[in-house]
Amino acid sequence: MKSPSSSSSSSVRKNSYCSYLITISFIIFVTILYGEDFTCILRQQFIHYQQLDDHFDQHQQKQEKDEVVPFAVGTTESGCDIFSGEWVYDEETRPQYEEEECPYIQPQLTCQAQGRPDKAYQHWRWQPHGCNLPSFNATFMLEKLRGKRMLFVGDSLNRGQFVSMVCLLHRVIPEGEKSFKTIESLTTFRAKEYNATIEFYWAPFLVESNSDNAMVHRVSDRIVRGGSINKHARHWKHVDIMVFNTYLWWMTGMKMKILRGPFDGDMKNITLLEGADAYRLALRRMLKWLEKNMDPQKTRVFFTSMSPTHEKSFEWGGEQGGNCYNETTPIKDPNYWGRGSRKNIMQVVKQVFQTSKVPITVINITQLSEYRKDAHTSIYKKQWIPLTPEQIANPKSYSDCVHWCLPGLQDTWNELLFTKLFFP
Ligand SMILES: *[C@@H]1O[C@H](CO)[C@@H](O)[C@H](O)[C@H]1NC(C)=O
Ligand SMILES: *[C@@H]1O[C@H](CO)[C@@H](O)[C@H](O)[C@H]1NC(C)=O
Ligand SMILES: *[C@@H]1O[C@H](CO)[C@@H](O)[C@H](O)[C@H]1NC(C)=O
Ligand SMILES: *[C@@H]1O[C@H](CO)[C@@H](O)[C@H](O)[C@H]1NC(C)=O
Ligand SMILES: *[C@@H]1O[C@H](CO)[C@@H](O)[C@H](O)[C@H]1NC(C)=O
Repeated sequence: MKSPSSSSSSSVRKNSYCSYLITISFIIFVTILYGEDFTCILRQQFIHYQQLDDHFDQHQQKQEKDEVVPFAVGTTESGCDIFSGEWVYDEETRPQYEEEECPYIQPQLTCQAQGRPDKAYQHWRWQPHGCNLPSFNATFMLEKLRGKRMLFVGDSLNRGQFVSMVCLLHRVIPEGEKSFKTIESLTTFRAKEYNATIEFYWAPFLVESNSDNAMVHRVSDRIVRGGSINKHARHWKHVDIMVFNTYLWWMTGMKMKILRGPFDGDMKNITLLEGADAYRLALRRMLKWLEKNMDPQKTRVFFTSMSPTHEKSFEWGGEQGGNCYNETTPIKDPNYWGRGSRKNIMQVVKQVFQTSKVPITVINITQLSEYRKDAHTSIYKKQWIPLTPEQIANPKSYSDCVHWCLPGLQDTWNELLFTKLFFP
């Protein structure tokens, strides 16, 4: 709760018996609600009653607002920041599923099957400082998704989170009652008996780009069409829960090329923008679409913040020239923040979403994932292009320090999403 004395107290107020009574009954009400010690306020109540009344109004408005949050069934302990916490090693309850139990994990993320010798990365549980997370309950979630569409939109990191979500949910659905298929950019998991779908749509920049083919997108010369989103977004209409991300593809280290006009035109009108400015342009376009298409009374929108990389081990005090390869334990320094996670991008996210007419819940996974240098797929992923002898001689040269093994870190992202969805 905000301190009542924090608001201005300049205006002179009547000290009538009636408002005194209102103040007292409000204090009793708040004391019962929060069990807080209000004796100091009682002592000063003649000065502060008006502010308390104001505060009461705010509180009521907030309650009314809380009541209409779709999908919510409870609340997280007030004041608990679930993204601030620590990793606890927990062999008993983690992982929540086995790698071989989930047939939907693509071979780029099945680290055990690809030969990873250690398993500790699967056993870390996120423990917020201020409260406990509710347990992920697949049956409960599927009930809530009955007749609904949940859609993940973004890049390969978002795809990883989508697959993790499917792995967490699919176990309670019998064989024959579920399906999983990909058509072009859209992958759909269907829980038939629930008439529910969990979907992933590939759009690494959200807006239209020359990297939009879900299969063939290894392009270095990235071009986006700043204002153009409908080519993708027409597939996103009528979703009930939207979870989107975008980050890594913007971080080329060079200015972004923004195309005006279509890709099949002469492509002559290209402007160069700084990464952060181009990013802002795309987020704004996304926001405009969300405001037009998502109904805050019925739907929910989530944004997953930037996923960190671990490319340079000297950043966490490791040896020079190393990366995430051969890392098997999380970083312990609570303030660790790698250079790959650009704080100015986080600022852009905040600034753009502040203006939003539809509430966007940020799943702020950046800090907690920063600690997890051990959780990347590293060299334990399917290689589509055969490795050269030089690479084989130097494994860290082809180690993937961007993506994450499943089961693993991204299951936690979904626990946090589960918490924000049902216990905001
Ligand atoms: C999970 O949710 C279902 C459906 O709401 C409920 O019946 C069950 O008791 C829950 N399980 C746990 C372990 O809380
Ligand atoms: C199934 O869910 C869709 C929304 O995804 C809804 O339009 C449709 O009416 C539902 N069908 C049944 C039989 O409930
Ligand atoms: C390029 O696009 C911008 C923005 O739409 C427009 O203002 C400008 O006139 C265009 N330039 C050319 C040469 O077409
Ligand atoms: C991997 O780490 C272990 C233990 O920290 C070390 O003994 C080994 O030499 C490392 N291997 C490589 C190839 O760096
Ligand atoms: C996410 O968390 C980090 C630190 O934990 C904070 O600096 C940042 O502002 C947060 N981002 C948003 C969008 O809330």
